[in-house]
Amino acid sequence: MTAVAVVTGAGQGIGRAIARRLPGEGFAVALVDLDAAGLAETAKEIGDDGAQTLPVRSDLTEVRNIERTMSQVVKAWGRIDALVNNAGREVTKPFLETTEADWDAMLTINLRTVFFATQHAARAMIAGGAGGQIVNIASIAGRSGRADQAAYGAAKAGVISVTRSAALALASHGITVNAVCPGVVDTAMTRRIHDIRSRMAGISPQESLRRMVARIPLGRIASPDDVARAVAFFCSPQAQYITGQALNVCGGIEMD
Ligand SMILES: NC(=O)c1ccc[n+]([C@@H]2O[C@H](COP(=O)([O-])OP(=O)(O)OC[C@H]3O[C@@H](n4cnc5c(N)ncnc54)[C@H](O)[C@@H]3O)[C@@H](O)[C@H]2O)c1
Repeated sequence: MTAVAVVTGAGQGIGRAIARRLPGEGFAVALVDLDAAGLAETAKEIGDDGAQTLPVRSDLTEVRNIERTMSQVVKAWGRIDALVNNAGREVTKPFLETTEADWDAMLTINLRTVFFATQHAARAMIAGGAGGQIVNIASIAGRSGRADQAAYGAAKAGVISVTRSAALALASHGITVNAVCPGVVDTAMTRRIHDIRSRMAGISPQESLRRMVARIPLGRIASPDDVARAVAFFCSPQAQYITGQALNVCGGIEMD
């Protein structure tokens, strides 16, 4: 059996680009998402390229669903060699208006899910005895403050922390754990954020995006595949001596 990767949030955006990249590194890919139609589209795109896929519809905010998802993959393919924790959501809202529900939602999908998916996938990797790679999609919002994304930023800073703790805990099993911190990526999430920010600032979404691009040293926003290439690297043998790291893929916006 070829190596098996699990990609969460594979129904669109960055997750879909990651799922399309990993067969090039020799992986069959289990695609996990809430959105069945998005999953079917991703599976079709990858299948057309001749790679093996296993779509799993799951709401990862429930820990029992995470456990069930990993079991389903092991039952179907006998192993898990790589996990990419990519599923996420954002709330963009002024600091003083952020509610308890916003806070809990952000910490649940963006952080608690990453912790428990890592734990359950790592158990399968340890049982397989061949090590593995875990890549967590954090954000540059976890590297510095965000006046309108405080809960999201806290969750993403937490993802970097969990990455380092898991790297220490799992190193002796031959499992590497790294994070990728994207900047501004051309996806539905970014379009939503710019709609909200432009309304708050009383400018057009195009003007909001133009101002953001003006702050990016490389002069453009990222494509989903810019992020996917970094993830594929961490899942490849070239990265076998790298663990506990967080790599900014942001065109130079953030340098720490
Ligand atoms: N787009 C950006 O600029 C950007 C920047 C930094 C970090 N990120 C991070 O990258 C990741 C992917 O972002 P994207 O831009 O592709 O977002 P997106 O909104 O386009 O896609 C997110 C995917 O996650 C899935 N998802 C959401 N909640 C889920 C749940 N409870 N269970 C299962 N699946 C769920 C959605 O259905 C969707 O398919 C996220 O973790 C996000 O925080 C994105």
